[in-house]
Amino acid sequence: MRPLLVGFALIGMGLAAPAIVAQKVELSVDASKVGAKIDRNIFGQFAEHLGHGVYEGIWVSPDSTIPNTRGIRNDVVAALKAIRVPNVRWPGGCFADEYHWRNGIGSPRTVTLNPNWGGVIEPNSFGTHEFMDFLEQIGAEAYVSVNVGSGTPREAAEWLEYLTAAQATTLAKERAANGHPGPYRIGFLGIGNESWDCGGNMTPDYYLSQLEIYSRFVRNFNPAQQDKQQMLKIAVGPGGGEPRWTEWTEAIMKAYRQHSWSWDINGLSMHSYTVGHWPPSFTSTGFGETEYSQILKFTLAMEDLISKHSAIMDKYDPEKKVSLVVDEWGAWYAPLPGSNPGFLVQQNSLRDAILAALNLNIFARHAERVRGANIAQMINVLQSMIMTDKEKMVLTPTYYVFKMYLPFQDSTFVPVAFDAGSYSHGDITLPRVDAIAAKDGAGKLWLAVTNLDPNQPIEVEASLAGVTANSAAGEILTAAKVDSVNTFESPTTVVPKPVSAKVQGGKLILKLEPKSVTVVSVER
Ligand code: AHR
Repeated sequence: MRPLLVGFALIGMGLAAPAIVAQKVELSVDASKVGAKIDRNIFGQFAEHLGHGVYEGIWVSPDSTIPNTRGIRNDVVAALKAIRVPNVRWPGGCFADEYHWRNGIGSPRTVTLNPNWGGVIEPNSFGTHEFMDFLEQIGAEAYVSVNVGSGTPREAAEWLEYLTAAQATTLAKERAANGHPGPYRIGFLGIGNESWDCGGNMTPDYYLSQLEIYSRFVRNFNPAQQDKQQMLKIAVGPGGGEPRWTEWTEAIMKAYRQHSWSWDINGLSMHSYTVGHWPPSFTSTGFGETEYSQILKFTLAMEDLISKHSAIMDKYDPEKKVSLVVDEWGAWYAPLPGSNPGFLVQQNSLRDAILAALNLNIFARHAERVRGANIAQMINVLQSMIMTDKEKMVLTPTYYVFKMYLPFQDSTFVPVAFDAGSYSHGDITLPRVDAIAAKDGAGKLWLAVTNLDPNQPIEVEASLAGVTANSAAGEILTAAKVDSVNTFESPTTVVPKPVSAKVQGGKLILKLEPKSVTVVSVER
């Protein structure tokens, strides 16, 4: 189907000005045909001890002049509560495979170094209790990654006993003495991180030998997590689509298929950054349509990557018991000039908002297998939700996409059929439009539509079956330029604004601006 051209109101002084035309997009949704649950954990976050991700981003210490609760920034907590963060992965990343948990409990703390990220001092003032306190303040689950690369199964097992034992073991008493008598709840356990690389350069077989040991001995003793709400164990998975990673997925999933009663996994991790080429050279500010279209093309490769690894998983796990958890994803650009290159500081633009929406849509379309994802990283690092500078805080365009997508948390996927059309720039051709739909717990239908085209508006003509529809209302996120950003001085350059639409002639007509992300609910 060829997209139709619809004139927008650009007629003045009797002269037609056909320069800007809305591309018509026909879309149909049958709300009676529902798919898998879109697990809220695909909206997970990642907080590594890296640059100002934890220190200054979350932790400012109790005696700071920045308003805080037990050392944790109040402004950041309020912002994260508003996007209902389901889980936070911590303490890394590469940092996790050099993290020794005892350095971060009690007093005084052991001061170490952070060799992965700038070689700076790691004060360990933000440790187990501070992380769990932070999670309690924002209402999120813990996704703890244990040290496989330079730790031992015993060290990890003791950490979990310290965290979760309810009985009066020596470790549980130590936890109580440090301020938390009751056991903590740990939702997810990451067994290593990128063990094929910064996590120890292991072969699949060597990693498997470790995985089986850690999976067996690193136990969660919390009585509330025995029969129900069990901690999910996530194995290290692939970092791309090349043969070494398809072999990795094959090896882990084959072993899972044959696994004995004594070990198990519930998830396989996958890492995929939108980077273009290593080392990252795309800039996060001051770019144009060329870099915009290139980055979006790179990011859409997530679809093939997930399909490829899901197909391998399907061979060994056709019942889809093992989740694919994309626990590091997002844009990775060149460090901002003047910043410490080890701190991975970058700006966050409208391009990143669109990139986030496209990836969330891909995860939603793979909801049967992708039941977790963690954007990298939550604050001040890579594609962050929030940036801080001393007492100042700014919310990024990506933050607003996570906020607009709240209705999709634990919703039920509804298939959408549409002719995406195409948008071209130079030698790059992309789909012009992307869309997902879902029903929330109350049965309300939600539609998310992204217009990738930075120049042309679109007019979506949606046929809605299986639902009574009179109008739609929600929010649209766009800005003047593809590289528009929010700064401490101008924090509202890229913020959502209300949008509404009516049903006309039995179809919902949505007029959407160029380079925009829109989320609407369908109203009776
Ligand atoms: O997110 C930054 C780093 O990227 C993580 O520490 C590592 O796991 C990945 O390579």
